[in-house]
Amino acid sequence: MESDIQVVRATPEHEKYSQDISDLIYEASQDKGAGLAQRSPNYILNKIREGKSVIALVENELAGFCYIETWQHNKFVANSGLIVSSKFRGMGIAKKIKEEAFKLSRDLYPDAKLFGLTTSEAVMKINSDLGYRPVSYLKLTEDDAFWKGCETCVNYDILQRMNRKICLCTGMVYNPSEKNNE
Ligand SMILES: CC(C)(COP(=O)(O)OP(=O)(O)OC[C@H]1O[C@@H](n2cnc3c(N)ncnc32)[C@H](O)[C@@H]1OP(=O)(O)O)[C@@H](O)C(=O)NCCC(=O)NCCS
Repeated sequence: MESDIQVVRATPEHEKYSQDISDLIYEASQDKGAGLAQRSPNYILNKIREGKSVIALVENELAGFCYIETWQHNKFVANSGLIVSSKFRGMGIAKKIKEEAFKLSRDLYPDAKLFGLTTSEAVMKINSDLGYRPVSYLKLTEDDAFWKGCETCVNYDILQRMNRKICLCTGMVYNPSEKNNE
């Protein structure tokens, strides 16, 4: 099975998976504990077209996905929308996707701070291994458009009540200018 897992930067040949990716994200977003925002098939399609996403396939079946977004004029890059199909969880696929998304982000935006918001212990572990560390939300981007992206998360009311300072997700940052990251 290990050898059948393909994790690559998504290219136009993967556009056909946009609807399925959006459906997987929607399904996972219904779990209050997940803290995952929904994304439309069109949004996913654009991420694939822009060369800003990573896809995992197992024998051509969709196994997982993640995309990157930039904020504050490329000062910050978020790796978002990480999803692994329940059928393929626990096989190291999220780790592989995040590693590829990390390389993609570093290739495209070598000076940017990479960050993510997550409630997932698996993702916290993966991020820590990549050199991310937990930070308060004040250290994340101030870009309103980023926080607007949380609107479709089922916990958005909490974020608003807390004036964007805290919510259920842990914020994590990789700062390329901190030597101990590498
Ligand atoms: C979170 C998610 C992406 C993990 O995907 P996965 O492919 O099963 O994760 P991996 O197999 O790559 O596991 C990565 C690491 O986390 C650990 N891990 C996996 N699931 C875990 C769990 N539920 N609790 C704690 N650790 C876990 C693994 O042991 C592994 O650690 P290791 O490298 O030391 O072996 C997947 O469960 C998912 O899609 N969940 C729903 C959506 C979601 O929460 N997305 C994250 C949004 S930030």
